[in-house]
Amino acid sequence: MAGGMSDNVILVGFMGAGKSSVGRLLARRLGRCFVETDDMITAKEGRPIPEIFTAKGEPHFRALEDEAVRLLALKRGDVIATGGGLPCQDGRVEALQALGTVVWLSGDLAALLERARRTGDRPMLDGKTREEIEALYKSREPYYAKADLSVDTTRLNPDQVAAEVWKALQARARPPQPRPPHPTLSPTGGEGSASR
Ligand code: S3P
Repeated sequence: MAGGMSDNVILVGFMGAGKSSVGRLLARRLGRCFVETDDMITAKEGRPIPEIFTAKGEPHFRALEDEAVRLLALKRGDVIATGGGLPCQDGRVEALQALGTVVWLSGDLAALLERARRTGDRPMLDGKTREEIEALYKSREPYYAKADLSVDTTRLNPDQVAAEVWKALQARARPPQPRPPHPTLSPTGGEGSASR
């Protein structure tokens, strides 16, 4: 598979993109291990993400993400789901690309938010107006857009997204061969002689 030296597949995208469910399905399809940076952080801190935000604030959580990224350097051939804010700082997507192929699970913001609200607690959305969330999304989009591949998840279920990611990874691993040049015509209309 194309990508960084370590051959991981790294999923990025806004909250509600389906990184966890798609990552799990994709790992199964590829016969790889599945890792989530949020799980690494939860395990280290011994409490769920919303409690980390409440007790220690967002800067502390971001520092834990920095540490998680450093630990990802040990991973080989895994499927890795990242938290929605993890790739959104300068140099971070490039650091992830050094670990493997970065895949953006994109989607319409309305669809992402609908999913995010259905699945779990998101301290980054709590108490925010629609305008504030749109601004957050807009500030993050340029980072996600640096990914090697992207799949629009808006109208797809996790199985379908995993299948699309799988296809895109296969195509990237075996890029189409360039077509041979057209035979050159000689001044008399015959083929081939002008190339000599
Ligand atoms: C965050 C997204 C969450 C989690 C934390 C912060 C963010 O992960 O890392 O609540 O800043 O967007 P998901 O993207 O899996 O919801």
